[in-house]
Amino acid sequence: MTDSQTTVTSPSTFGCSRRQLLVGTGVGALGVATMGVLAACGSSSSGGTGATAAADGSIAKVTDIPVGGALAATGSDGKPILLVQATEGTVTAVSAVCTHQGCTVVAGSGDLTCPCHGSVFALDGSVTTGPASTALPTVEVHVSDGTVFLGQA
Ligand code: FES
Repeated sequence: MTDSQTTVTSPSTFGCSRRQLLVGTGVGALGVATMGVLAACGSSSSGGTGATAAADGSIAKVTDIPVGGALAATGSDGKPILLVQATEGTVTAVSAVCTHQGCTVVAGSGDLTCPCHGSVFALDGSVTTGPASTALPTVEVHVSDGTVFLGQA
């Protein structure tokens, strides 16, 4: 392997859309430049890992989640999830792994969207627009004193 070669696995490994990865490899003929782009993908606020659980299992404050929208986070299994606050004070969560081909679904405007092939999901995870045909699985979360925790209460 030369300095100009970079080995890249699945785009979803890095929480990046295929588009983000293609842009990254186009810009980065040098491995260093490419790795910088990959690092940037993981820190995106619109998808990817987002909020992670603290030692006590807390993952976010309810006030961090937009009402009528979602916040990217990481589930207990390390996979991306979306914390949803469809109505003020009610927090639910769904897997952010697209049921079509596994890309990371991100928060849209009042919905959840997959950047890979355009599937759109309602905030409850149900499919609004394909090609995905299966809803995003729900993820157990609960709220205590304004803090969201992974799992059941
Ligand atoms: S992977 Fe999400 S629409 Fe294809």
